[in-house]
Amino acid sequence: MKLSFSAPGIPTQGALAVGVLPGGKLTPEAAKLDKRMRGALRRAIHAAPRFNGEKGQMLDVPAPAGTRLSRVILAGLGKPADLNKLAWEELGGNLARRFDDGDRIAAVVVEAAPGSDVDAATAAARLAYGASLGGYRFDRYRTKIPKDKKPTLRSLVVRCADAAAARAEFRDLDAVAAGVRLARDLVSEPGNVIYPRTLANAAQSLESLGVKVEVLGRARLERIGMRTLLAVAQGSDHEPYVVVMRWNGASSAKERPLAFVGKGVTFDSGGLSIKPSSGMEEMKFDMAGSAAVIGAMRALAGRKARVNAVGVIGLVENMPSAKAQRPGDIVTSLSGQTVEVLNTDAEGRLVLADCLTYTKDRFKPVAMLNLATLTGAIIAALGYHHAGIFSNDDRLSKELTDAGEAEGERVWRMPLGKEYDSDIDSPIADMKNTGGKGAGSIAAAQFLKRFVGDVPWVHIDIAGTAWSYKDKATVPKGATGYGVRLLNRLVADHYESAD
Ligand code: BES
Ligand code: MN
Ligand code: ZN
Repeated sequence: MKLSFSAPGIPTQGALAVGVLPGGKLTPEAAKLDKRMRGALRRAIHAAPRFNGEKGQMLDVPAPAGTRLSRVILAGLGKPADLNKLAWEELGGNLARRFDDGDRIAAVVVEAAPGSDVDAATAAARLAYGASLGGYRFDRYRTKIPKDKKPTLRSLVVRCADAAAARAEFRDLDAVAAGVRLARDLVSEPGNVIYPRTLANAAQSLESLGVKVEVLGRARLERIGMRTLLAVAQGSDHEPYVVVMRWNGASSAKERPLAFVGKGVTFDSGGLSIKPSSGMEEMKFDMAGSAAVIGAMRALAGRKARVNAVGVIGLVENMPSAKAQRPGDIVTSLSGQTVEVLNTDAEGRLVLADCLTYTKDRFKPVAMLNLATLTGAIIAALGYHHAGIFSNDDRLSKELTDAGEAEGERVWRMPLGKEYDSDIDSPIADMKNTGGKGAGSIAAAQFLKRFVGDVPWVHIDIAGTAWSYKDKATVPKGATGYGVRLLNRLVADHYESAD
């Protein structure tokens, strides 16, 4: 779908959406159109008693007289005071999907609502951003979509008073949307297409945007000593990789970076502690943490963020085989700490442990954030609307929580604490990779904490947020790309130097 911006006015073809405020009140541009249509919009509103301009409502007026439009869509805006950036994005997402159901060319008129603190240009840019995110589809493997189910929209023109300002504001948002789309694509792909090598290739494709990418293969990882990561990979025929992505956008390349670390288990069968077959197919998404890191690096590079950021992703496949690690194996991590592997399905923490050590020691980051579909238990605790965060730093937690609220990628802080250490202490090694009876997510986080030293750190457990089982305005069913917007916003609000 092509997105563009232009001045307000009534187009000579296609569909057109205009806003309606609560009480069925037409916005000024809608009123102009109504005049051209000799009052047909007002009559349509009266004829549809359920439509009163509330948020999310839409009313179709087909083949409007006095114009050459195919249809006018009256879009309920809801209370102006509630029309924040996210609300404009949602409207954009909802409209994109509505237009996709038959319109090839469409336009929408965006006006600042009286009493809202979002101006017209920002509203227009956010609407376009929402349309881009909400119009996402993963159709690659559907070769037989019936004609009436295929998306139709080719061009969406966002019309607003200061089109140039909207276009300028959209440029950065477009880069973020590209990052989200990339993450969604990677997570949607099945395990036979995305495995460690191909996921590394996806990261490598960011070189065209100026990201420096290093791909470390098995021999390198062995020499470095990333044995807990290698232990997970040893049951698979796919070679494991650790990929390092560096974006140096700060004024000095010497400025210490912000680090993102991602779990990239391209398929998690559980290994010898094999998962039940029902639902196992979902475990193609177990690389969503690393997809979010790739997407975030794509966003930062795409908008030339003034920050030094490094992304480190640990890419492995967790499979059972004669070469696979066994329950009871004891492995020495890069940090020197030993781990008794009681359950080969608790593999994410083994991968992350070495990646966190490596990132901390090599890059001395100002802060380190890791993303991982780490535990089913976080879904039991928080469901699908918040990611769980665990942190050794109150300020960083607060910054991340605020970023999540602003972007609609919410997080909820969970506890860490010495009391939980006894859950992961092992009688035969420094620790074991599973916890006790309850608090599985906390045990996993407490395990990771043993590898971060005193670097300000947050672990984001995205097991519940990486995949959506319901269509939402800007997040269609399927891979969400969760984390890209969150990390981008954290950087934009706290870690970018001014020009
Ligand atoms: N990738 C899974 C976590 C997961 C499970 C994500 C379900 C989304 C839905 C992880 O590797 C895993 O298997 N964790 C185990 C840990 C247990 C063996 C201690 C879990 O959560 O059951
Ligand atoms: Mn697992
Ligand atoms: Zn896993």
